[in-house]
Amino acid sequence: MKIYISPMAGYTDYSYRKILKKFNPDLLFTEMINAHLLNKNDKITENELLKCDDKINEGVQIFGHDKENIVNAFLKAEKIGFKNLNLNMGCPQPKIIKKGAGSALLPKIELIDNLLYELKEKLDSKTKLSLKIRIGYRSFSSPELYIKIADKYGLDFICVHGRTGEQFYKGNSDWNIVSRLSYLPRSETLDFIGNGDLFEAEQIVNTITSSNLNGVMLSRGIIGNPWLVTQLKELLETGKISSFPDLNTIKNTVLKHIEYLIENKGKIIASLEINKFLKPYFKNFLSEDTNQKLKEIITKKDINKKIQSIINI
Ligand SMILES: Cc1cc2nc3c(=O)[nH]c(=O)nc-3n(C[C@H](O)[C@H](O)[C@H](O)COP(=O)(O)O)c2cc1C
Repeated sequence: MKIYISPMAGYTDYSYRKILKKFNPDLLFTEMINAHLLNKNDKITENELLKCDDKINEGVQIFGHDKENIVNAFLKAEKIGFKNLNLNMGCPQPKIIKKGAGSALLPKIELIDNLLYELKEKLDSKTKLSLKIRIGYRSFSSPELYIKIADKYGLDFICVHGRTGEQFYKGNSDWNIVSRLSYLPRSETLDFIGNGDLFEAEQIVNTITSSNLNGVMLSRGIIGNPWLVTQLKELLETGKISSFPDLNTIKNTVLKHIEYLIENKGKIIASLEINKFLKPYFKNFLSEDTNQKLKEIITKKDINKKIQSIINI
């Protein structure tokens, strides 16, 4: 069972991927990349979002709505050196779907068919191509079509998130549908990766047991919890979990994460960006006391004071 880490805008940046890499997931992804901006040589896209130390085991996910733009962006990402390229067909954010990208691509079956045909023609045969879809969007409710298309073009994997575009992140990921899709005929070379509501190792194993998966893609479950990768591996391989991080391990990981953020984005941004990870990192130690301490840490702007307070938790 392969363990992938999903692209997550605002989370799977260079710094957090450096933390995640220590837990050896099979594949990680950058935050989603705007095809249009990549083609325009946008500096933030090139220098920040695509910053990466391992272009073989870390993939790029691209979103866009226009075929030519998407093809050019994929070719550019390949030229930069990335070997795993994924098309975003799931993002539900209004500013993305308004332009016809993300999950709004789902009903455009002919466009996707033509796009994949062209990508397969133009990309190196060793470059791995994949799709990340949701199970529905407005009038579209035939995700099985994309299993067929992914198979037809010899894609590396299709990742299916069991929510519709309209659901955003609400309600449950429908694992009955994901499971049904996973049993549709596909060639051995096409991996089926399940996604949605995978938060804790035991719960993940229970969720996926009735599906025919080659792997899972972890998303919100790994925010502040990179240990989930190890725990899931242990449970799948040995039937039990032995890695439970203690408070010191968590503190040291947070401090490392802050160090990477400072190196990469400077002290001011580091101080802001670590905030959204703090409660998730300490979620198993949230007594009233630590909760209060975390609230105070989050309000501190000075990164040195923040670091000192984390050490003192
Ligand atoms: C903050 C946030 C950012 C996300 N960014 C992306 C993204 O850039 N590309 C993408 O395909 N999915 C993105 N997703 C969706 C996740 O990859 C995943 O499909 C979704 O969260 C379902 O998995 P989960 O329920 O286990 O979190 C994002 C989700 C969240 C919560």
